[in-house]
Amino acid sequence: MKTSEGAARFIPEQRTLPVLAAAVQKCKGCDLYRNATQAVFGEIDSRNGAARPKIAIMMIGEQPGDQEDKQGRPFVGPAGKLLDKALEQAEIDRGEVYVTNAVKHFKWEPRGKLRIHKKPSMKEVTACRPWLDAELETVRPKLIVALGATAAQGLLGSSFRITQAHGKVQEPPGLPPIIATLHPSAILRAQTDEERHEQMRMLVKDLREAAKIAGR
Ligand code: URA
Ligand code: SF4
Repeated sequence: MKTSEGAARFIPEQRTLPVLAAAVQKCKGCDLYRNATQAVFGEIDSRNGAARPKIAIMMIGEQPGDQEDKQGRPFVGPAGKLLDKALEQAEIDRGEVYVTNAVKHFKWEPRGKLRIHKKPSMKEVTACRPWLDAELETVRPKLIVALGATAAQGLLGSSFRITQAHGKVQEPPGLPPIIATLHPSAILRAQTDEERHEQMRMLVKDLREAAKIAGR
């Protein structure tokens, strides 16, 4: 099988979230399915009660991490905990956002017993794009929040720089407006407390801006 084909031929006709989420488990649009436990599709977190009928914001991360790969749900590991905290500080209910990733399978390399996250290539992001497009078409969010460079550059081009343009609304043709901001994992990697606090402030500020624009 040629891996350059991408995910397009695995996308079902029927575009509902449950049908898409089931179909992604059979995707072989690139090689990443080979070493992952399962695909991790997007979802509306309903831990706080019933899912809302209208989702205004779609948040897009990079790819599932170790925990997400095992549990089959996006942003449930350490980065997800940090995202929860940032959302809380920005007064956004996680049950009101659709959370997903640019790439649906976990890319990793072994280091001893650990599985270490490996950044997906632009080719893999492109291969997986039909799933994201199907999610966008189905959820129809008013605003996208791109978490980190992988998601942001996948949507806005490889010259996009988070450091320069985070928190500012981007309006690319054919997509909902986009606000890009830091990836929670970047904050987990901060070297000093000062850096960590500064980055957290930046993330929360950008999320507040997103909430404002999504019209809450
Ligand atoms: N990092 C991501 O980008 N997505 C996840 O789901 C978890 C960690
Ligand atoms: Fe398919 Fe995306 Fe998984 Fe590649 S990463 S196999 S394109 S779902």
